[in-house]
Amino acid sequence: MRDALRLRPAASAQDERGILQLAKFRTLDDLPPDLTGKRVLVRVDFNVPMQDGAISDDTRLRSAVPTIAEISDRGAIVLLLSHFGRPKGRSRPDMSLALLVRPLSELLGRPVRFIEDCQGPEAERAVTTMTPGSIAILENTRFHSGEEQNDPELAKAMAALGDYYVNDAFSAAHRAHASTEGIARFLPSFAGRAMQAELEALEKALENPEKPVAAVVGGAKVSTKLAVLGHLIAKVDHLIIGGGMANTFLAARGVKVGKSLCEHQLTGEANSIFAQAEAAGCTIHLPYDVVVAKEFAANPPSLRTANVHEIAADEMILDIGPDAVEAFADVLKTCRTLVWNGPLGAFETPPFDTATVALAKIAAALTKEGGLVSVAGGGDTVAALNLAGVTPDFTFVSTAGGAFLEWMEGRTLPGVAALQQQQGWDDHAPGHVDSDL
Ligand code: 3PG
Ligand code: MG
Repeated sequence: MRDALRLRPAASAQDERGILQLAKFRTLDDLPPDLTGKRVLVRVDFNVPMQDGAISDDTRLRSAVPTIAEISDRGAIVLLLSHFGRPKGRSRPDMSLALLVRPLSELLGRPVRFIEDCQGPEAERAVTTMTPGSIAILENTRFHSGEEQNDPELAKAMAALGDYYVNDAFSAAHRAHASTEGIARFLPSFAGRAMQAELEALEKALENPEKPVAAVVGGAKVSTKLAVLGHLIAKVDHLIIGGGMANTFLAARGVKVGKSLCEHQLTGEANSIFAQAEAAGCTIHLPYDVVVAKEFAANPPSLRTANVHEIAADEMILDIGPDAVEAFADVLKTCRTLVWNGPLGAFETPPFDTATVALAKIAAALTKEGGLVSVAGGGDTVAALNLAGVTPDFTFVSTAGGAFLEWMEGRTLPGVAALQQQQGWDDHAPGHVDSDL
């Protein structure tokens, strides 16, 4: 058994779900070395973006390759479970995982077969024809309505296909679904290599970090990240706020933000975050200068850099300015750990990616020099770091969207909690259904 990883304080986990969560999970190292002929159900997240029938980003397929290859090399029959899109309990040919058989096979350099259901007699028959080391993708778990309802009957029927359950889908771990949570009650359960790497990185970033810790939080709206900010204040020494959401905090401090995106109705929440941060000894950093324009377009003629106190009524903030980047960089230089979610400006439109790219490069350089543990996550954040070309230099970049955000809110992820149960697979409290779809 590996050393325990502390992911959540047991008490808060207990409060939230009413069950005891042992802060441990098993990995592929805890499976028998020789798995010849054993059937291993592997939950992956093959919910990949598609454009005109082709995969536009295969990161999620790639991230599952090490686990699939390792289990197959150890002689197991590998049965891949995943959702794909939101078919709402119906079969839809455009959301069939059959579409991913060939791309996965090419990435693995091994044959992959397709099984037309993720449970039931047909699937059982198909599995009995498989030989040690072979790999199959089972059809979309969300073609069954029991998946999102976390129906124990469906979980049990999927579990009946395998001897072991491996979850390698951190990005789907915020869903308490039959294939991510319920199934772990019926089979001995393990974290795959990608899940393991993710949990170890998150542990280093927030649960048990080297101090001082900085968080960079950006993105358009405060309203989507109030819970994140509330949780971070209690955890980090420096909270650096950029992106559209900084405007709401600037406005709460009396700055006239002109036409900028700003949630004025959240002034009360912003002030309460300032007060809570002060009480917790967390320093909040806002930009001193910003990049403004009269219209939101690429390289607009009205573009200029301004002190935050000099924004005209017809201007809007579209990025943070160079002095702010320098000040934020100075903060990062004093820190040992960084967790980053959200871009600092409207990064998809040039030149409003400038600050995000500049600060990301500085964080990457500090990481490379060895002084900083840097962890980032979220869809836009990953896109921004890719744009800056620094993804490989960060300590860890999570490909998860919703799951990363819920983790940053300090919430227990049901798919992770299910792996942390070390005993009594079938005597837990009944599963809960999340309504966040
Ligand atoms: C994701 O893409 O964020 C995960 O695969 C979860 O998908 P969902 O948001 O449809 O549950
Ligand atoms: Mg999602």
